[in-house]
Amino acid sequence: MSTPFSELHAGLDRLRRLVEREELPPPAIIDAQLTLRCFMRCRYCRIWTFEGEELGFEPWRDLVTELRAWLGPFQFIISGGEPLLVPYLTELLEHCRDLGVQTSLTTNGRLLDDPLLERLGRSGLGTLVLSLDALSPTHDQLRDSPGLAGHLRSVVEHFGTSSERIKLKILSVISRANLGEIETLLDWAEGCEELTAVLFQALAQPFSTEFRQDWYLHNDLWPDDLEAVDGLLDRVVRRQAAGGKIENERFQLEFYKLYFRDPNQFVRHRCNLGRVLLKISNQGQFSACFHMGVMGDLARGSVREQWYSRQADEVRRRMRRCDLSCNLPVNCNFKENAALVFGDRWREFDRDAVEQP
Ligand SMILES: C[S@@+](CC[C@H](N)C(=O)[O-])C[C@H]1O[C@@H](n2cnc3c(N)ncnc32)[C@H](O)[C@@H]1O
Ligand code: SF4
Ligand code: SF4
Repeated sequence: MSTPFSELHAGLDRLRRLVEREELPPPAIIDAQLTLRCFMRCRYCRIWTFEGEELGFEPWRDLVTELRAWLGPFQFIISGGEPLLVPYLTELLEHCRDLGVQTSLTTNGRLLDDPLLERLGRSGLGTLVLSLDALSPTHDQLRDSPGLAGHLRSVVEHFGTSSERIKLKILSVISRANLGEIETLLDWAEGCEELTAVLFQALAQPFSTEFRQDWYLHNDLWPDDLEAVDGLLDRVVRRQAAGGKIENERFQLEFYKLYFRDPNQFVRHRCNLGRVLLKISNQGQFSACFHMGVMGDLARGSVREQWYSRQADEVRRRMRRCDLSCNLPVNCNFKENAALVFGDRWREFDRDAVEQP
């Protein structure tokens, strides 16, 4: 039975929705998982366990066209799975280039050779991010791929003239396995003209595993030597201040020190990515966080309309109450979430504010 109180509550809820929708900006980060297929079996990733039909070229082309009209020039981030397995990849990159959409692609690099680099260069790829955790066989062991570190090193050092318009970056996951090797990697990167930047991520719960708060207690790649973690991150911060090619914000590097003590930092700080992130799955569903539900589907028409739908609002509401820790606010989308959680002055790292929200 409805009471004056429940009617008031429903009315306030309708008002809140109206205000939120009005204030909600279009998404600022577009992350496309063209495929979840992968031929590698890295120790920290099980994304490849996905099996099933994936979209072809046309829906992705139409999505880029719609987003360009809605957002203006934007950056189309291609992740995965292993994107170099996507048969229509260069066609899609060309479409992005023709519309003035910037592209960035992260790869394990195993399939890269001169002809492929040349094709990527010709299709207008903006940034190529190579995953590389160490220069030694540590990397090969993490990825169960003998000779991979040597191959990537050679790709970087012989980065051809045909691909020179592509910006080249290294992405390195900090874990117990490579803690002692990161500075050697940085020394090498600093000496490589071809490399624009090195970007660090902290080990997160392996993708496509059941999310739980205590995952790190049972993960043998989780570093437990906190002194070594702090020492490394302090030196990385110093190298950055001295002009090193390190792309992470300083705050993020400082934050990692807290993260390795308690990876559930954002459980206490809330995840606000629902307001900025649009991730599109290999099957055309989209959301800011698939763990909290699907916001829409490319097959159902306008992404813009679905972004402002009740269904999308509901996912945002669940996200704000999330009590999990995951890769997105900690690594890939740290900056955007920190700005929403800590406000405009988030770059002035204040440890007390972070520890006691
Ligand atoms: C999921 S992969 C997809 C692209 C491509 N297959 C690759 O490996 O570069 C994207 C990035 O996530 C990183 N990654 C994988 N598992 C991770 C984890 N558990 N924690 C943090 N980063 C992870 C990978 O090392 C890679 O740099
Ligand atoms: S991290 Fe990349 S290369 Fe490794 S299994 Fe996952 S998708 Fe494949
Ligand atoms: S932290 Fe954010 S992105 Fe990660 S599971 Fe929770 S709501 Fe989803």
